[in-house]
Amino acid sequence: MAETLPSVFVAIDRADPREAAGDLAALGQDGFALKLGLEFFVANGPAGVRAVAGTRPLFLDLKLHDIPNTVAGGVRAASACAPVFLTIHASGGPAMIAAARKAADQNGAARMQILAITVLTSLDDGDLDAVGQIGPSGDQALRLALVAKMAGADGVVCSAHEIARLRAACGPDFKLVVPGIRPAWAATGDQKRVMTPREAMDLGADHLVIGRPITQAADPRAALNRILAEIAA
Ligand code: C5P
Repeated sequence: MAETLPSVFVAIDRADPREAAGDLAALGQDGFALKLGLEFFVANGPAGVRAVAGTRPLFLDLKLHDIPNTVAGGVRAASACAPVFLTIHASGGPAMIAAARKAADQNGAARMQILAITVLTSLDDGDLDAVGQIGPSGDQALRLALVAKMAGADGVVCSAHEIARLRAACGPDFKLVVPGIRPAWAATGDQKRVMTPREAMDLGADHLVIGRPITQAADPRAALNRILAEIAA
């Protein structure tokens, strides 16, 4: 039986390990998990990732996209970081997704869950058209989520506004991990289509990814606690 993962993954979007460790120390408690991204991994490698993550559940957001053989090798190499979630791009296609899942299965006892990225929220319908993908972006995200599920991905990263549609299409066991979350009391920053933690959980998100509302708060620990309390209420 898999251990229950925390609802909240705090995004530490930094390359410097001392700054990342400082962000984590400011939170100083259990009850949350950690997301590290490409900038941290490229700068510090698996040893640096392990040093910062410690025993905390880790979401390693590398968004891999290449031929199946290369992505499989990347997944095997990433297993040295012992993540619970690892991201790949669904647009790499069914064979690439299946190769990632197979490589993750070869990881032994710790089962790495493969999350697919559908459509980056930085792309609008005009951008999709420019690269030959059929919009609107919500339809393309659904198409790619179904491809990811069929090919063996454990879930997708999606906007809170896509939760209901993806849950209906992909079923109850497909993980929906949701960034773009802003508590009612936090600044929205550059995230445009935001939702509160409670709203996203009520819609059926499995996990939330929250960065700046926690890490940039005047009191990060209080901000995290307030979010956890709102979810639990
Ligand atoms: O600081 P903030 O809460 O906006 O951080 C959100 C995190 O989620 C960042 O690590 C960002 O890269 C990630 N993310 C996102 N929007 C997506 C996918 C991932 O904000 N569509």
